[in-house]
Amino acid sequence: MARQHEASDSDVESNSPLLPGPGQSPSSASSPDKRSPIRTAWAYAVLGSLGLGIVWLAFGQSYLDSRDGLVPSTDDPHFPTSVGYAGPTPTGGEAFAAATSYPSNFDSSPLHPPPELVSEKFNILHYLGNLSPWRTVNHGLKGTAQIPQGCTVEQVQLLHRHGARYPTTGAGTEAFAKDVVGAPGFKASGNLSFLNSWKYQLGAEILTPFGREQLFNLGVSFRTKYGHLLDPKKKPVFRTESQDRMLKSAQNFAAGFFGIPFEQQYHQLVTIEWPGFNNTLAPYMTCKNAIDYGRTRAPQKMAEWIKRYLDDALQRVQPLVEGVTLRHRDLFNMQLLCAYELVALGGSAFCPLFTEDEWRGFEYAHDIEFYDAFSYGQGAQAAVGKGWVQEWLARTTKQPLKVFDSTTNSTLHTPEFFPLDQQLYVDATHDTIISAVITTLGFSSFARSGPLPTDHIPSDLSFVTSSVSPFAANLHSQVLSCPSSSLVPKGKDARFVRWVLNDGVVPLDHIEGCATNDDGLCHLDAFVQATKDRIESIDWAYDCLGDWPLPEEPIKDGRPPRRD
Ligand SMILES: *[C@@H]1O[C@H](CO)[C@@H](O)[C@H](O)[C@H]1NC(C)=O
Ligand SMILES: *[C@@H]1O[C@H](CO)[C@@H](O)[C@H](O)[C@H]1NC(C)=O
Ligand SMILES: *[C@@H]1O[C@H](CO)[C@@H](O)[C@H](O)[C@H]1NC(C)=O
Repeated sequence: MARQHEASDSDVESNSPLLPGPGQSPSSASSPDKRSPIRTAWAYAVLGSLGLGIVWLAFGQSYLDSRDGLVPSTDDPHFPTSVGYAGPTPTGGEAFAAATSYPSNFDSSPLHPPPELVSEKFNILHYLGNLSPWRTVNHGLKGTAQIPQGCTVEQVQLLHRHGARYPTTGAGTEAFAKDVVGAPGFKASGNLSFLNSWKYQLGAEILTPFGREQLFNLGVSFRTKYGHLLDPKKKPVFRTESQDRMLKSAQNFAAGFFGIPFEQQYHQLVTIEWPGFNNTLAPYMTCKNAIDYGRTRAPQKMAEWIKRYLDDALQRVQPLVEGVTLRHRDLFNMQLLCAYELVALGGSAFCPLFTEDEWRGFEYAHDIEFYDAFSYGQGAQAAVGKGWVQEWLARTTKQPLKVFDSTTNSTLHTPEFFPLDQQLYVDATHDTIISAVITTLGFSSFARSGPLPTDHIPSDLSFVTSSVSPFAANLHSQVLSCPSSSLVPKGKDARFVRWVLNDGVVPLDHIEGCATNDDGLCHLDAFVQATKDRIESIDWAYDCLGDWPLPEEPIKDGRPPRRD
């Protein structure tokens, strides 16, 4: 492909799974897997009718035998794993660290960013937007996510992102390798001379080894925090999607949560992530307005910002390159390469090429992207999160869904696939769904600083992508019973809810009926009522499929302009 020197910087591509590049369909942007779902369904049907007997003969028998430790349970007879002699195997009680010693998290080993970009005051890993590894953050409240004294946990619902992955298809990293480094006559010198022998080594879409570690650790963390919520008599249903990194994330989580072998210890529901399928964990697949370039100003705003914050870098780096005229966007792609090589290869020669301020600028480019395309600033985002929030309400109130008017799939709303009697629920999803769900739930503290400007970073910025949707991001609700709390008026229900995003308690005081307190607690009844009202006010069909105009005034609540 010939390099297009004349191309403007305004066609900045999203490195997120959702914002398709120009001329790219959402399906090709979001999944490399071209297998038709029909073929897959057919394969399952054949396995179901023909294969199962054979599979049982092969594995069922050896499973039974292996309980005595006599016969190998592996399919490789030369390297059996069940050789007996396991030693004593008593297990211990279930942990409840959420109450006793709520842990804080920053797993970044074995990533090795340049030491000059890691200090007490600045850590590059906090400025990589949605490509940052998740860490414990604070959303402005004094309280921590530790269960307050006098409260017990009744229910936890976890919505987590997949772990670190390779670039999504069409991200600018590969274009940089091909069109800049691969351009005829390309030659680099000084700090850039590593590029003369550099090879592009990134895959696409799937988890990196570090990404697997993140999900394994997240599973360990949730078992340690909330293990006591498991019902020893019943296998829980956890949910994920068919996309490779989603399934593998869920399996790595399960390996950490249950220990290996985890397969027999729970039910993994794998829902279809593909254009046209209703899916609350991949809801953009039926919400066309959510991924429509004509309904967001994010790409233009990002391009404006990138031109500004990378101008010095362009002047600095261009003299080190012969044969190619660099654009601002190429510099942005070099920053992306730093982020991706870090989480895939452990380190990257691209990272030290940029200053702290340029990394702050990189983070802010992602803040603009996520705010304006996947959160409060885009008119279909409250609708995108509606399906999952309906399911959250169903589990919280233990009332099955009756109306399917969003991205929910009625076929999957049976007691088998969508039980309402678990105390711990685990759903795997994408970055842009976490940012949409906080919009649907009306967590407006994230929108406090208002629409994001493109000429400076606001000093009190309330929406920071690396705090909202980093790799392995996790949002969970705690339903708490606090009979001895001073917040409970006599004779009133003593149940509260609060939300914890990446270990930080989310302020709820701006929600109708929720009081101000340091712990982010809201009376359960009040929160449920406010959420029901909000859900009812979101017209999914209009917001996702209707022909509403992109207004001049910035959108601030994830909803399209009001109809008169
Ligand atoms: C080369 O990198 C070092 C730090 O790694 C930096 O101090 C120096 O300014 C860079 N030189 C150029 C021309 O970018
Ligand atoms: C609902 O889910 C089932 C099972 O995954 C799937 O076969 C069906 O096509 C889905 N329906 C819709 C409308 O997406
Ligand atoms: C899928 O979603 C659409 C739009 O909300 C809805 O009309 C349809 O009934 C749903 N299908 C299923 C199987 O739930």
